[in-house]
Amino acid sequence: MQTPLLETHSISKSFGFPALLNVDIQVNHGERFGLIGPNGSGKTTFINVITGVLRADEGGVLFDGKDITSMQCYRRARLGIARTFQIPKPFISLSILDNVTIPLKFGAYKEGSKTRLEEEALKILQLIGIESKAYETPEDLTQIEMRKLELARALALKPKFLLLDEVMAGLSSSEVDDILAILRNLNDQGITILMIEHIMRAVMSFCQRIAVLNAGIKIAEGGPEEILNHKEVEKAYLGE
Ligand SMILES: Nc1ncnc2c1ncn2[C@@H]1O[C@H](COP(=O)(O)OP(=O)(O)OP(=O)(O)O)[C@@H](O)[C@H]1O
Ligand SMILES: [Mg+2]
Repeated sequence: MQTPLLETHSISKSFGFPALLNVDIQVNHGERFGLIGPNGSGKTTFINVITGVLRADEGGVLFDGKDITSMQCYRRARLGIARTFQIPKPFISLSILDNVTIPLKFGAYKEGSKTRLEEEALKILQLIGIESKAYETPEDLTQIEMRKLELARALALKPKFLLLDEVMAGLSSSEVDDILAILRNLNDQGITILMIEHIMRAVMSFCQRIAVLNAGIKIAEGGPEEILNHKEVEKAYLGE
């Protein structure tokens, strides 16, 4: 069997209370994996531990078979782990194009000339559908364009693994569909995706497997049908 792209072994993280407790998650190459759970259940903390923003107190993280538990953030990014932030944080005084050339220069195109970087950045903006905004600044963007920029910035790292933290929150139903189509395209191109999302329709239609966190504990894992019909999941969301 092929090594999973991501494997966590019993990771725990405490902030004086357990935000993650003995969490084991495996994501396979090419998979579309969902991570759901009520507010405060540890989803963003999980992304932070995988990307190296936070260190787990216990447990291990393997990426493509390699132990990255203690690796610095920027080195994990260069291995191909990229994330979006729940609250987008673009460089507000720079153009949309430069918001993408900067991570490009950091990641895949360290040696590239300015023209080469800009060509590559434009390709990414095209792929995401905001190339017409290339020379504007983030304050000129609508909410969905802002989410797309957040995606474009993550893609500039040429990721193998893309972790999405509620990239569709607050969008209309047709905007959600727009983002889902982009994500399907990225997945078709070989990018493995971990989606954190409260919009159930999006998670259930997009993800092949889903894990559920509740108060830092993984309470369920399975296909969309299985998760929808899982008693403990229902209890976690709706109470007894
Ligand atoms: N750096 C931190 N210091 C202290 N507590 C934190 C920190 N980060 C998160 N927490 C707490 O840990 C718990 C899990 O937070 P986390 O952000 O991972 O939840 P989440 O599942 O992403 O929630 P949401 O759906 O609201 O985004 C929460 O109680 C949160 O307040
Ligand atoms: Mg969160």
